[in-house]
Amino acid sequence: MKPTGVLIVKSLILLLGIGVIIFQSTTSTCCSCPLATLFLFMSLTLTHFTISLNYWFVPGGFAWRNYHRHEKAAKLTGPMGWPILGTLPQMGSLAHRKLAAISTSLNAKRLMALSLGATPVIISNHPETAREILCGSSFSDRPMKESARLLMFERAIGFAPSGRIAASHMFSPRKVSNLECLRRQVVDEMVMKIWKEMEEKGVVEVRAILQEGSLGNILESVFGNCLSSEREELGNMVREGYDLISKFNWEDHFPLTFLDFHGIKRRCYKLAAKVNSVVSQILKNRKGSGEFVFVGENDFLSALLSLPEEERLGDSDVVALLWEMAFRGTDTVALLLEWIMARMVLHQDIQAKARHEIDKCIGQYGQVQDSDIPKLHYLQAIVKEVLRLHPPGPLLSWARLAVHDVYVDKLFVPAGTTAMVNMWAITHDSSIWEDPWAFKPERFLKEDVSIMGSDLRLAPFGSGRRVCPGRALGLATVHLWLARLVHQFVWLPVPKQAVDLSECLRLSLEMEKPLRCQKSLRRFPPGTLLLISLSGG
Ligand code: HEM
Repeated sequence: MKPTGVLIVKSLILLLGIGVIIFQSTTSTCCSCPLATLFLFMSLTLTHFTISLNYWFVPGGFAWRNYHRHEKAAKLTGPMGWPILGTLPQMGSLAHRKLAAISTSLNAKRLMALSLGATPVIISNHPETAREILCGSSFSDRPMKESARLLMFERAIGFAPSGRIAASHMFSPRKVSNLECLRRQVVDEMVMKIWKEMEEKGVVEVRAILQEGSLGNILESVFGNCLSSEREELGNMVREGYDLISKFNWEDHFPLTFLDFHGIKRRCYKLAAKVNSVVSQILKNRKGSGEFVFVGENDFLSALLSLPEEERLGDSDVVALLWEMAFRGTDTVALLLEWIMARMVLHQDIQAKARHEIDKCIGQYGQVQDSDIPKLHYLQAIVKEVLRLHPPGPLLSWARLAVHDVYVDKLFVPAGTTAMVNMWAITHDSSIWEDPWAFKPERFLKEDVSIMGSDLRLAPFGSGRRVCPGRALGLATVHLWLARLVHQFVWLPVPKQAVDLSECLRLSLEMEKPLRCQKSLRRFPPGTLLLISLSGG
């Protein structure tokens, strides 16, 4: 228990004792005295308050009250937090930083217990306990946010075993490589947009262009190029979905299913119905066109429709799966690229080195392709370093759920506990990373750290059975687009306007203020050099 908590409880017990003594001495002299009634009332109130405090003020807080009463072995430690709310007030836009600071102050880096309302949670800030959570079979489930459940995510990859089988077909190396043509086409369009916007306004908001490019890329990867009228609608649906899932919902932390604060449920029902109708129609149209249309195509929908009979999914599962792909694949790529571009502007020497590496590989006027990426070691190191400093999922997005009682780090964790990994805390830990706050891609030239989930010091895509299935596709896109943007343009800061690296955690970790740029000098059309000035916010 925190020293301050112990102090409060002790003071209240003392007060209670004093109250009882005064009460006894007053009643013995004058039974009907109103003062006696007052003291009796005060004592009872204090007793009740003290008992409540003992109930709430246990290590980890309110949700762990029974754990401490029954469990005799070594116990978890953690912040007591607020009565009823627990640590919820800390879970705002900088939750990853606040949780990291609390665990350091309590010396509970390996494993810490906390309460998010009535939900018992453990959180790891250490690669070893992170591995136990992510890679064991005890945490293979995900706790279901109400909005995620209503938006059909319980049916898709994240939650259904059949979804994962289908994902392995959709994200096979051949499928990812077959989509290169699309990635190149989208980055060409983005280059033209950057150019045009600078010509017209003199300022470019890279975020809007990256989001639009990423959305178009993922929608066409998922549904193929058959979309026309549905494209805008799907884009709006993905945006609405983000908004709903990012919203705080009391129901996720308290048994309040009968309520609908802020109308989130109502909006989720409406959106799910729309998703069902639009995606089902696309599916129907594709099926109606005959099997020959999708054999040999590269999109995910074709991959699902051409699965062997025994692995084929029902229509409603296909709809849920495609929707989850479109949803999960869009923002991570766009916001990671925005962080990378911000770093490129801040560190001109590093940007120049990356461009030099590309020039050496394909010449000044060549066009980067997927096959060039393995030779661009420095470019890959830049992406790793940004994933280390600004992981899009600092708490690995959606958490895990203990499916049965389990021991983590030899500490008992009851079934039903939500488990989180603070990847941001691990990647900023000075006992793991030398000079962890410095932006130094060179560190990955000295030591080749895998980011695909095998090394828990840097696992921005998670690890184990629930590791991100889209990581190869996401990385292929980020590498190719970054190489093209750095090769095509020189990105410069706007004089006297520092890039603002403030963070905001919604569903993913975003730059709080969008990066904007200004035209400065150029050599164009494509293959020529362009100088751009950037500023944060
Ligand atoms: C730079 C890009 C990306 C990053 C940083 C990223 C990160 C993550 C993280 C941290 C998780 C949770 C893993 C865990 O709990 O262990 C995840 C899950 C997931 N990601 Fe990604 N992701 C990216 C791109 C993509 C793309 C392009 C797609 C699909 C097209 C995708 C689809 C998914 C899905 C479906 C899950 C849920 C898996 C499950 O619950 O079993 N992601 N991602």
